[in-house]
Amino acid sequence: MHTLLPGKWLTGKWTKAVLFLLCLGPLASIIWPFVRGYTIPNPLEFIQHGTGDWTLRFLVLTLAITPLRQLFHLPELIRFRRMLGLFAFFYACLHFTTYLLFDKVFDLHEIWKDVYKRPFITVGFLAFTLLIPLAITSTAGWIRRLGGRRWRILHRAIYISAICGVIHYYWQVKSAVIRPLFYAALVGVLLAWRVGDWLLRRRRTALANAAPQRTPVKAVQ
Ligand code: HEM
Repeated sequence: MHTLLPGKWLTGKWTKAVLFLLCLGPLASIIWPFVRGYTIPNPLEFIQHGTGDWTLRFLVLTLAITPLRQLFHLPELIRFRRMLGLFAFFYACLHFTTYLLFDKVFDLHEIWKDVYKRPFITVGFLAFTLLIPLAITSTAGWIRRLGGRRWRILHRAIYISAICGVIHYYWQVKSAVIRPLFYAALVGVLLAWRVGDWLLRRRRTALANAAPQRTPVKAVQ
């Protein structure tokens, strides 16, 4: 069977640690210009855009794991899904904290007004809120407690979060719609893949159920 990456590499002891460090790269790239004292025309916008972009990218990467596993016959990729999802949440927390601390300076009344009155903030808030229960229940203990089926149903909220994330992005750009549309296409393909996969499995089950049952042939004495 052809695979692009050797399974042995994917199951290696250090792979998760390397991926973890790579996932911290975007944070370093946001902090670095401040550490170096570079001139940043609009620091708040710089942080808000950096953290927002990476939240969306990590959501897309998390959603891409299942299609990539199936397409390239790499079941080992599942090891990284939880980490990628938690990094999406981590960058979303940074993104929201930037808004809370530097944009609104903890003015809860202003924040509520924003959530209520500005549709792009409303959907962003929804996208973020949906990720909270997913992050909390991402542990093996919670999978056991909820049961696999209920856990999977709950974690489908990531699809809605990603869709809201894209709408949030699209609504806040004025004219440069190319990038949000690109993310919309990516999320669309990843969700369409799941619908296709579900339809295929349903058809297979229906065909298997419709197939004539074989009755065991009695041995002729
Ligand atoms: C999963 C949740 C979220 C995702 C995926 C997300 C994603 C993004 C993206 C991609 C951008 C644009 C970055 C760019 O232009 O390069 C952005 C900007 C922004 N987001 Fe979010 N966001 C989320 C949640 C939130 C929340 C909860 C808030 C606040 C309540 C928020 C407030 C903002 C603000 C104020 C901007 C900047 C708008 C501007 O510069 O005009 N976002 N977000």
